[in-house]
Amino acid sequence: MIALACDHTGIEMKKEIMKLLDGMGLEWKDFGVNEAVSCDYPIYGYRAAKAVADGECDHAILICGTGIGIGIAASKVKGVRVCTCSDVYSAELSKRHNNSNILTMGARVVGVDLAKMIATHWLTAEFEGGRHQRRIDMIAAIENGEEL
Ligand code: RB5
Repeated sequence: MIALACDHTGIEMKKEIMKLLDGMGLEWKDFGVNEAVSCDYPIYGYRAAKAVADGECDHAILICGTGIGIGIAASKVKGVRVCTCSDVYSAELSKRHNNSNILTMGARVVGVDLAKMIATHWLTAEFEGGRHQRRIDMIAAIENGEEL
């Protein structure tokens, strides 16, 4: 299950991502927003990120104007690993090396076709484990207040 959320800038792009996921046979759950009225991205980023942290969803794709604000908000939820991407290479590597579980994109930064390509690469890439797992464990340790 993929959590989806956006602010007022990302509604059209989110609809396109919904269609992409439908085409890939992937289920999604929408955490809003769906009215093109100025709103606060932390609310929706938080709700979708919490669904990932709680295990209700496996991944999330979040959209705001830059992808940055909603990404910062989502990354405050313990247990998630957020990547904000505007290129395919970073998106794919963020999964293979960082096991990212939340992708954020900027509706004012990337076009819809590129966003769909980024999402496709991100969703289909697989975590490689090994030395990368050790580093992810270190990130979790930081999150738990441990010293490195
Ligand atoms: C909204 O104007 C804009 O600030 C928001 O979509 C996002 O880009 C914040 O990071």
